[in-house]
Amino acid sequence: MILSKRITAMQESPIRKLVPFAQAAKAQGKKVYHLNIGQPDIETPSSFMEAVKNFDEKVLSYALSQGSPELIDGIRQYYAKHGMNFENDEILITNGGSEAILFAIIAIADPGDEILVPEPFYTNYNGFSSAVNVNVSPITCKAEDGFHLPSKKAIEEVINTKTKAILLSNPGNPTGVVYTKEEIQMLAQLAKEYNLFIIADEVYREFVYDGLEFTSFGEIKEIEDRVIIVDSISKRYSACGARIGSIASKNKELMKQILKLCQGRLCVPTLEQVGAVELYKTSDTYFNAVNQEYDKRRKIVYEALQTMPGVLCKKPTGAFYVVAKLPVDDAEKFVVWLLSEFDVNGETVMMAPAEGFYATPGLGKDEARIAYILNEDDLTKAMEILKIALEKYPNKTI
Ligand SMILES: Cc1ncc(COP(=O)(O)O)c(C=O)c1O
Repeated sequence: MILSKRITAMQESPIRKLVPFAQAAKAQGKKVYHLNIGQPDIETPSSFMEAVKNFDEKVLSYALSQGSPELIDGIRQYYAKHGMNFENDEILITNGGSEAILFAIIAIADPGDEILVPEPFYTNYNGFSSAVNVNVSPITCKAEDGFHLPSKKAIEEVINTKTKAILLSNPGNPTGVVYTKEEIQMLAQLAKEYNLFIIADEVYREFVYDGLEFTSFGEIKEIEDRVIIVDSISKRYSACGARIGSIASKNKELMKQILKLCQGRLCVPTLEQVGAVELYKTSDTYFNAVNQEYDKRRKIVYEALQTMPGVLCKKPTGAFYVVAKLPVDDAEKFVVWLLSEFDVNGETVMMAPAEGFYATPGLGKDEARIAYILNEDDLTKAMEILKIALEKYPNKTI
Protein backbone atom coordinates (compact mmCIF):
# COMPACT_ATOMS: atom_id res chain seq x y z
CA MET A 1 0.00 0.00 0.00
CA ILE A 2 1.25 3.50 -0.82
CA LEU A 3 0.86 6.29 1.71
CA SER A 4 0.47 9.94 0.76
CA LYS A 5 3.59 11.91 -0.09
CA ARG A 6 2.53 14.65 2.31
CA ILE A 7 2.31 12.35 5.33
CA THR A 8 5.61 10.61 4.58
CA ALA A 9 7.26 14.02 4.03
CA MET A 10 5.99 15.32 7.39
CA GLN A 11 8.84 15.58 9.87
CA GLU A 12 8.95 13.50 13.04
CA SER A 13 8.80 15.49 16.25
CA PRO A 14 12.44 16.22 17.18
CA ILE A 15 11.22 16.50 20.76
CA ARG A 16 9.82 13.00 20.89
CA LYS A 17 11.90 11.05 18.41
CA LEU A 18 14.72 10.24 20.84
CA VAL A 19 12.27 9.02 23.50
CA PRO A 20 13.08 5.32 22.75
CA PHE A 21 16.70 6.04 23.78
CA ALA A 22 15.46 7.56 27.04
CA GLN A 23 13.23 4.55 27.63
CA ALA A 24 16.17 2.20 27.04
CA ALA A 25 18.30 4.24 29.49
CA LYS A 26 15.55 3.99 32.11
CA ALA A 27 15.19 0.24 31.48
CA GLN A 28 18.90 -0.04 32.35
CA GLY A 29 18.14 1.68 35.66
CA LYS A 30 19.43 5.17 34.73
CA LYS A 31 17.67 8.28 35.98
CA VAL A 32 17.01 10.70 33.10
CA TYR A 33 16.49 14.42 33.75
CA HIS A 34 14.08 15.50 31.02
CA LEU A 35 15.02 18.90 29.66
CA ASN A 36 13.63 17.98 26.26
CA ILE A 37 9.92 18.67 26.57
CA GLY A 38 7.78 21.66 27.59
CA GLN A 39 5.68 19.81 30.15
CA PRO A 40 5.67 22.07 33.23
CA ASP A 41 5.70 20.49 36.70
CA ILE A 42 3.74 23.44 38.18
CA GLU A 43 0.47 22.33 39.82
CA THR A 44 -2.67 22.98 37.79
CA PRO A 45 -4.90 25.37 39.81
CA SER A 46 -7.26 23.17 41.86
CA SER A 47 -10.29 25.09 40.54
CA PHE A 48 -10.02 23.01 37.36
CA MET A 49 -10.31 19.64 39.16
CA GLU A 50 -13.04 20.98 41.49
CA ALA A 51 -15.19 22.08 38.57
CA VAL A 52 -14.78 18.71 36.86
CA LYS A 53 -15.62 16.87 40.14
CA ASN A 54 -18.73 18.99 40.64
CA PHE A 55 -20.07 18.37 37.14
CA ASP A 56 -23.45 16.74 37.73
CA GLU A 57 -25.15 16.38 34.35
CA LYS A 58 -26.59 12.91 33.73
CA VAL A 59 -25.32 12.79 30.13
CA LEU A 60 -21.86 13.80 28.95
CA SER A 61 -23.08 15.41 25.75
CA TYR A 62 -21.35 17.15 22.84
CA ALA A 63 -20.46 20.75 23.45
CA LEU A 64 -21.16 23.44 20.83
CA SER A 65 -18.73 23.32 17.90
CA GLN A 66 -17.55 26.87 18.56
CA GLY A 67 -16.97 26.03 22.22
CA SER A 68 -18.81 26.53 25.48
CA PRO A 69 -20.31 30.06 25.72
CA GLU A 70 -19.01 30.41 29.33
CA LEU A 71 -15.46 29.59 28.25
CA ILE A 72 -15.62 31.90 25.24
CA ASP A 73 -16.83 34.68 27.49
CA GLY A 74 -14.05 33.95 30.00
CA ILE A 75 -11.47 34.21 27.23
CA ARG A 76 -13.06 37.43 25.93
CA GLN A 77 -12.70 38.95 29.41
CA TYR A 78 -9.11 37.72 29.69
CA TYR A 79 -8.25 39.40 26.37
CA ALA A 80 -10.00 42.60 27.43
CA LYS A 81 -7.67 42.73 30.46
CA HIS A 82 -4.75 42.50 28.01
CA GLY A 83 -5.96 45.37 25.85
CA MET A 84 -7.59 43.23 23.14
CA ASN A 85 -11.25 43.72 22.41
CA PHE A 86 -12.72 40.59 20.88
CA GLU A 87 -16.42 39.88 20.67
CA ASN A 88 -17.68 36.42 21.60
CA ASP A 89 -18.20 35.40 17.96
CA GLU A 90 -14.56 36.28 17.27
CA ILE A 91 -13.29 33.45 19.51
CA LEU A 92 -13.46 29.69 18.81
CA ILE A 93 -12.41 26.95 21.25
CA THR A 94 -9.98 24.39 19.82
CA ASN A 95 -8.31 21.14 20.88
CA GLY A 96 -5.24 22.87 22.22
CA GLY A 97 -3.28 25.59 20.52
CA SER A 98 -2.19 22.79 18.16
CA GLU A 99 -5.56 22.55 16.46
CA ALA A 100 -5.80 26.34 16.33
CA ILE A 101 -2.53 26.45 14.36
CA LEU A 102 -3.68 23.75 11.95
CA PHE A 103 -7.07 25.40 11.39
CA ALA A 104 -5.45 28.79 10.81
CA ILE A 105 -3.07 27.37 8.20
CA ILE A 106 -5.87 25.49 6.40
CA ALA A 107 -8.06 28.60 6.37
CA ILE A 108 -5.55 31.00 4.85
CA ALA A 109 -3.24 28.98 2.59
CA ASP A 110 -3.78 26.72 -0.42
CA PRO A 111 -1.43 23.89 -1.48
CA GLY A 112 1.78 25.43 -2.81
CA ASP A 113 1.35 28.65 -0.83
CA GLU A 114 4.04 29.82 1.58
CA ILE A 115 4.08 30.92 5.18
CA LEU A 116 6.99 32.90 6.61
CA VAL A 117 8.28 31.57 9.91
CA PRO A 118 11.22 32.87 11.95
CA GLU A 119 13.52 29.89 12.51
CA PRO A 120 14.24 28.07 14.79
CA PHE A 121 10.47 27.55 15.28
CA TYR A 122 7.97 25.37 17.08
CA THR A 123 8.23 22.26 14.92
CA ASN A 124 4.51 21.69 14.44
CA TYR A 125 4.44 24.84 12.29
CA ASN A 126 6.41 22.87 9.73
CA GLY A 127 4.63 19.58 10.39
CA PHE A 128 1.11 20.98 10.04
CA SER A 129 2.04 23.12 7.01
CA SER A 130 3.58 20.22 5.12
CA ALA A 131 0.62 17.98 6.01
CA VAL A 132 -1.60 20.35 4.01
CA ASN A 133 1.00 20.98 1.26
CA VAL A 134 1.85 24.48 2.43
CA ASN A 135 5.53 25.45 2.45
CA VAL A 136 7.33 27.11 5.33
CA SER A 137 9.75 29.87 4.23
CA PRO A 138 12.23 30.38 7.02
CA ILE A 139 13.44 33.75 8.27
CA THR A 140 16.73 32.72 9.85
CA CYS A 141 17.47 34.12 13.32
CA LYS A 142 20.77 33.58 15.12
CA ALA A 143 21.81 32.51 18.61
CA GLU A 144 24.39 35.35 18.57
CA ASP A 145 21.51 37.88 18.22
CA GLY A 146 19.42 36.23 20.93
CA PHE A 147 17.20 34.99 18.05
CA HIS A 148 15.78 38.44 17.39
CA LEU A 149 14.50 39.15 13.87
CA PRO A 150 16.74 40.22 10.99
CA SER A 151 16.07 43.53 9.19
CA LYS A 152 12.82 44.30 7.34
CA LYS A 153 14.80 44.18 4.08
CA ALA A 154 16.07 40.66 4.83
CA ILE A 155 12.51 39.50 5.50
CA GLU A 156 11.22 41.18 2.33
CA GLU A 157 13.67 39.10 0.32
CA VAL A 158 11.82 35.92 1.36
CA ILE A 159 8.35 37.29 0.43
CA ASN A 160 6.91 36.38 -2.96
CA THR A 161 3.50 36.14 -4.62
CA LYS A 162 2.79 32.83 -2.89
CA THR A 163 3.42 34.20 0.61
CA LYS A 164 0.19 34.24 2.61
CA ALA A 165 1.16 34.79 6.21
CA ILE A 166 3.76 35.23 8.92
CA LEU A 167 3.50 32.60 11.66
CA LEU A 168 5.46 33.04 14.87
CA SER A 169 5.44 32.30 18.55
CA ASN A 170 6.00 35.19 20.92
CA PRO A 171 7.45 34.57 23.50
CA GLY A 172 9.33 32.06 21.40
CA ASN A 173 9.53 28.34 21.58
CA PRO A 174 12.28 27.07 21.24
CA THR A 175 14.30 30.27 21.60
CA GLY A 176 12.85 32.08 24.63
CA VAL A 177 12.97 35.33 22.62
CA VAL A 178 10.46 38.09 23.40
CA TYR A 179 10.13 40.32 20.35
CA THR A 180 10.37 44.05 20.94
CA LYS A 181 7.54 46.46 20.18
CA GLU A 182 9.58 47.64 17.17
CA GLU A 183 9.88 44.10 15.82
CA ILE A 184 6.13 43.53 16.21
CA GLN A 185 5.41 46.83 14.46
CA MET A 186 7.84 45.97 11.67
CA LEU A 187 6.00 42.68 11.03
CA ALA A 188 2.65 44.48 11.20
CA GLN A 189 3.93 46.91 8.57
CA LEU A 190 5.06 44.02 6.35
CA ALA A 191 1.66 42.36 6.73
CA LYS A 192 0.01 45.58 5.53
CA GLU A 193 2.42 46.21 2.67
CA TYR A 194 2.35 42.64 1.33
CA ASN A 195 -1.26 41.73 2.20
CA LEU A 196 -0.37 38.98 4.66
CA PHE A 197 -2.08 37.39 7.64
CA ILE A 198 -0.25 37.16 10.95
CA ILE A 199 -0.75 33.97 12.94
CA ALA A 200 0.39 35.08 16.39
CA ASP A 201 0.98 32.10 18.66
CA GLU A 202 0.95 33.74 22.08
CA VAL A 203 0.52 30.66 24.28
CA TYR A 204 3.46 31.84 26.47
CA ARG A 205 2.10 35.41 26.85
CA GLU A 206 2.52 35.47 30.65
CA PHE A 207 6.07 34.09 30.67
CA VAL A 208 8.13 37.25 30.21
CA TYR A 209 11.07 38.14 32.47
CA ASP A 210 13.41 41.03 33.32
CA GLY A 211 10.46 43.44 33.42
CA LEU A 212 10.21 43.39 29.62
CA GLU A 213 7.07 44.65 28.00
CA PHE A 214 5.10 42.12 25.96
CA THR A 215 3.43 43.43 22.80
CA SER A 216 0.60 41.38 21.35
CA PHE A 217 -0.40 41.59 17.70
CA GLY A 218 -3.95 41.79 19.06
CA GLU A 219 -3.23 45.33 20.26
CA ILE A 220 -2.49 46.72 16.78
CA LYS A 221 -5.74 48.15 15.53
CA GLU A 222 -4.64 48.93 11.94
CA ILE A 223 -4.07 45.26 11.12
CA GLU A 224 -6.83 43.73 13.23
CA ASP A 225 -8.48 41.95 10.28
CA ARG A 226 -5.14 40.25 9.45
CA VAL A 227 -4.33 38.98 12.94
CA ILE A 228 -5.15 35.48 14.17
CA ILE A 229 -4.30 34.87 17.83
CA VAL A 230 -3.52 31.28 18.84
CA ASP A 231 -3.87 30.56 22.54
CA SER A 232 -3.95 27.70 25.01
CA ILE A 233 -4.35 26.81 28.68
CA SER A 234 -1.59 24.17 28.42
CA LYS A 235 1.27 26.35 29.63
CA ARG A 236 -0.66 29.33 31.00
CA TYR A 237 -2.33 27.21 33.69
CA SER A 238 -0.08 24.15 33.47
CA ALA A 239 -2.95 22.13 32.05
CA CYS A 240 -1.37 20.43 29.01
CA GLY A 241 -3.55 17.33 29.28
CA ALA A 242 -6.82 19.24 29.11
CA ARG A 243 -6.27 19.97 25.39
CA ILE A 244 -8.03 23.34 25.44
CA GLY A 245 -6.93 26.14 23.17
CA SER A 246 -8.53 28.91 21.19
CA ILE A 247 -8.31 30.94 18.03
CA ALA A 248 -9.35 34.58 17.96
CA SER A 249 -9.62 37.06 15.13
CA LYS A 250 -11.51 40.28 14.36
CA ASN A 251 -11.85 38.99 10.80
CA LYS A 252 -15.41 37.66 10.99
CA GLU A 253 -15.36 36.11 7.52
CA LEU A 254 -12.24 34.11 8.45
CA MET A 255 -13.87 32.98 11.70
CA LYS A 256 -16.99 31.94 9.81
CA GLN A 257 -14.84 29.73 7.58
CA ILE A 258 -12.85 28.26 10.48
CA LEU A 259 -16.14 27.43 12.23
CA LYS A 260 -16.74 24.92 9.40
CA LEU A 261 -13.60 23.04 10.52
CA CYS A 262 -14.82 23.20 14.12
CA GLN A 263 -18.17 21.77 13.03
CA GLY A 264 -16.35 19.01 11.13
CA ARG A 265 -14.59 17.83 14.26
CA LEU A 266 -17.86 18.28 16.21
CA CYS A 267 -16.56 19.73 19.46
CA VAL A 268 -13.83 20.04 22.07
CA PRO A 269 -14.24 17.82 25.19
CA THR A 270 -17.12 19.04 27.33
CA LEU A 271 -15.64 18.36 30.78
CA GLU A 272 -12.32 20.00 30.06
CA GLN A 273 -14.14 23.14 28.98
CA VAL A 274 -16.01 23.14 32.29
CA GLY A 275 -12.66 23.08 34.10
CA ALA A 276 -11.10 25.68 31.79
CA VAL A 277 -13.88 28.19 32.57
CA GLU A 278 -12.62 28.22 36.17
CA LEU A 279 -8.97 28.54 35.12
CA TYR A 280 -9.70 31.76 33.30
CA LYS A 281 -10.95 33.17 36.63
CA THR A 282 -7.50 32.57 38.24
CA SER A 283 -6.12 35.71 39.89
CA ASP A 284 -3.00 37.45 38.62
CA THR A 285 -1.12 36.56 41.81
CA TYR A 286 -0.93 33.00 40.42
CA PHE A 287 1.05 34.27 37.42
CA ASN A 288 3.37 36.33 39.62
CA ALA A 289 4.27 33.25 41.69
CA VAL A 290 4.70 31.01 38.64
CA ASN A 291 6.82 33.63 36.88
CA GLN A 292 9.12 33.97 39.86
CA GLU A 293 9.59 30.20 39.87
CA TYR A 294 10.48 30.08 36.16
CA ASP A 295 12.72 33.08 36.55
CA LYS A 296 14.76 31.23 39.20
CA ARG A 297 15.02 28.22 36.93
CA ARG A 298 16.04 30.39 33.99
CA LYS A 299 18.91 31.82 36.03
CA ILE A 300 20.10 28.36 37.08
CA VAL A 301 20.22 27.17 33.47
CA TYR A 302 21.69 30.33 31.98
CA GLU A 303 24.37 30.74 34.63
CA ALA A 304 25.35 27.07 34.40
CA LEU A 305 25.61 27.29 30.59
CA GLN A 306 27.95 30.29 30.95
CA THR A 307 30.42 28.10 32.87
CA MET A 308 30.61 25.47 30.10
CA PRO A 309 33.50 26.07 27.69
CA GLY A 310 32.38 26.48 24.06
CA VAL A 311 28.69 26.88 24.88
CA LEU A 312 27.03 29.97 23.39
CA CYS A 313 23.63 31.41 24.23
CA LYS A 314 22.12 34.79 25.06
CA LYS A 315 19.95 35.01 28.14
CA PRO A 316 16.42 34.00 27.13
CA THR A 317 13.74 36.50 28.18
CA GLY A 318 10.51 34.53 27.79
CA ALA A 319 8.69 31.17 27.73
CA PHE A 320 10.74 28.45 29.47
CA TYR A 321 13.29 27.43 26.88
CA VAL A 322 16.77 28.30 25.73
CA VAL A 323 18.58 27.21 22.57
CA ALA A 324 22.31 26.81 23.19
CA LYS A 325 25.12 26.27 20.69
CA LEU A 326 27.19 23.36 21.95
CA PRO A 327 30.83 22.49 21.22
CA VAL A 328 29.79 19.26 19.47
CA ASP A 329 29.64 18.26 15.80
CA ASP A 330 26.08 16.94 15.96
CA ALA A 331 23.73 17.62 18.86
CA GLU A 332 21.50 14.66 18.02
CA LYS A 333 24.45 12.25 18.24
CA PHE A 334 25.43 13.95 21.50
CA VAL A 335 21.96 13.40 22.99
CA VAL A 336 21.97 9.75 21.88
CA TRP A 337 25.39 9.37 23.53
CA LEU A 338 24.09 11.04 26.72
CA LEU A 339 21.29 8.48 26.89
CA SER A 340 23.10 5.35 25.77
CA GLU A 341 26.75 5.67 26.77
CA PHE A 342 27.01 8.20 29.55
CA ASP A 343 25.94 8.69 33.13
CA VAL A 344 27.14 10.26 36.37
CA ASN A 345 26.36 7.86 39.19
CA GLY A 346 23.48 6.37 37.20
CA GLU A 347 22.03 9.75 36.13
CA THR A 348 21.94 11.53 32.77
CA VAL A 349 20.11 14.31 30.92
CA MET A 350 18.00 14.56 27.80
CA MET A 351 17.62 17.68 25.61
CA ALA A 352 15.96 18.33 22.24
CA PRO A 353 18.49 18.57 19.37
CA ALA A 354 17.66 21.80 17.55
CA GLU A 355 18.14 20.82 13.88
CA GLY A 356 14.46 19.85 13.63
CA PHE A 357 13.46 23.37 14.70
CA TYR A 358 14.94 24.77 11.46
CA ALA A 359 13.70 24.54 7.87
CA THR A 360 17.06 25.51 6.36
CA PRO A 361 19.06 22.30 5.87
CA GLY A 362 22.13 22.01 8.09
CA LEU A 363 21.22 24.80 10.52
CA GLY A 364 20.99 24.02 14.21
CA LYS A 365 23.10 20.87 13.98
CA ASP A 366 25.28 21.96 16.89
CA GLU A 367 22.39 23.39 18.94
CA ALA A 368 19.99 21.94 21.49
CA ARG A 369 16.90 23.24 23.23
CA ILE A 370 16.77 23.06 27.00
CA ALA A 371 13.36 23.39 28.69
CA TYR A 372 13.70 24.70 32.26
CA ILE A 373 10.65 22.93 33.58
CA LEU A 374 12.22 20.98 36.46
CA ASN A 375 12.42 22.13 40.07
CA GLU A 376 15.52 24.06 41.15
CA ASP A 377 17.34 21.08 42.72
CA ASP A 378 16.81 18.77 39.76
CA LEU A 379 17.71 21.50 37.32
CA THR A 380 20.95 22.27 39.20
CA LYS A 381 21.84 18.57 39.16
CA ALA A 382 20.94 18.23 35.48
CA MET A 383 23.18 21.16 34.54
CA GLU A 384 26.10 19.70 36.54
CA ILE A 385 25.66 16.44 34.64
CA LEU A 386 25.57 18.30 31.31
CA LYS A 387 28.80 20.11 32.16
CA ILE A 388 30.60 16.84 32.95
CA ALA A 389 29.15 15.27 29.79
CA LEU A 390 30.55 18.07 27.62
CA GLU A 391 33.97 17.59 29.22
CA LYS A 392 33.93 13.86 28.55
CA TYR A 393 32.22 13.71 25.15
CA PRO A 394 34.68 12.17 22.67
CA ASN A 395 33.42 14.17 19.64
CA LYS A 396 33.58 17.65 21.08
CA THR A 397 34.83 20.38 18.79
CA ILE A 398 37.00 22.29 21.27
C1 LIG B 1 4.65 27.72 20.70
C2 LIG B 1 3.63 26.65 20.96
N1 LIG B 1 2.43 26.76 20.38
C3 LIG B 1 1.49 25.84 20.55
C4 LIG B 1 1.72 24.74 21.35
C5 LIG B 1 0.63 23.72 21.46
O1 LIG B 1 0.14 23.61 22.70
P1 LIG B 1 -1.22 22.87 23.04
O2 LIG B 1 -1.69 22.17 21.83
O3 LIG B 1 -0.89 21.97 24.17
O4 LIG B 1 -2.13 23.98 23.43
C6 LIG B 1 2.94 24.58 22.00
C7 LIG B 1 3.23 23.40 22.82
O5 LIG B 1 4.33 23.12 23.23
C8 LIG B 1 3.93 25.57 21.80
O6 LIG B 1 5.12 25.50 22.38
